[in-house]
Amino acid sequence: MIWATANANLALVKYWGKSSLPGNQAANASLSVTLDGLTSLAAVRRRRDADTDRAAWSPPGPVEELTRFVGQARTILGIRHPLDVTVTSNFPVGAGLASSASAYAALTTALAAAAGRSGTDLSALARSGSGSACRSLLAGFVEWQPGAGEVTQIAPPAHWPLCVIVAVTREKPKAVSSREGMRRTATTSPFYDAWLTANPEDMRAAREAVRCRDLDSLGPVMERNALRMHATALGADPPLLYWEPATLAVVHEVRRLRESGAPAYFSIDAGPQVKVLCEPAHADRVADRVGAVPGVSRLIRSRPGDAPRLAAHPPSWAQLPPTWESRQ
Ligand code: PMV
Repeated sequence: MIWATANANLALVKYWGKSSLPGNQAANASLSVTLDGLTSLAAVRRRRDADTDRAAWSPPGPVEELTRFVGQARTILGIRHPLDVTVTSNFPVGAGLASSASAYAALTTALAAAAGRSGTDLSALARSGSGSACRSLLAGFVEWQPGAGEVTQIAPPAHWPLCVIVAVTREKPKAVSSREGMRRTATTSPFYDAWLTANPEDMRAAREAVRCRDLDSLGPVMERNALRMHATALGADPPLLYWEPATLAVVHEVRRLRESGAPAYFSIDAGPQVKVLCEPAHADRVADRVGAVPGVSRLIRSRPGDAPRLAAHPPSWAQLPPTWESRQ
């Protein structure tokens, strides 16, 4: 039995669109921060009661992609026997909180350990499950350059102990997946080319702001990048609208916070949740104000987090089916 955990990540400059290269490569560069405490667990063991793989989410979810990934990973890693795999997370899944990033990073780590290949570069494998999963293989601030498939850490978590406050506005999975959303945007949005053209400057500015730990430089770049991603997606046909009324209400509250002297900045992924960045000194005030916005069901507090880990036991939050409780 192998257990591995990995953290989700928040893209400060977002990946939205795939290149024509094989292997689920991105069309644009992205820069993320790995999120401490938003964690997935992958449990992997040899399957002895059948000769096919069994892959499951806990609580249950659609398994087609997961099963395809396990089969492909076994081939790449040279695992000959069938596997029994379960993945579970300590935060809402499929709701725009990068649960696929942490899930596929944890699973990649566990499968590599099962194959005795823990030290190898696993980014291509993680990426084939979910593009953003390759960034969750590294700690702290991470850059993913398209084409070459390069994933590099640009700064460790301790470089900048920012506070990330996630305002959850809807717990349910989103109606349109990132994969389908990207495909639809790239093929139908008249704004897609402009989105790609703007990427190098957003990357340069965000990289520099992270290097200098300058939130008042990073924040505006992060906000405009998120809004441009959504503007591009809104231009798709049919349009992609990932926001809830409370999403916009949080955006306005963050702007008011800034006006009242609390530097805080928002980002929104392909879902209705809002991630708010601030320095730790302002975190309580920001959390109080954002948490009081009608429609915000709960807050999750995070900060720059670590790379995936192998574990001797599942963490206490893990909700696993009874068959996994025997710790075989
Ligand atoms: O990795 P995917 O296929 O779940 O897509 C992630 C897309 C965004 O979260 C919206 C942006 C990003 O770079 O993480």
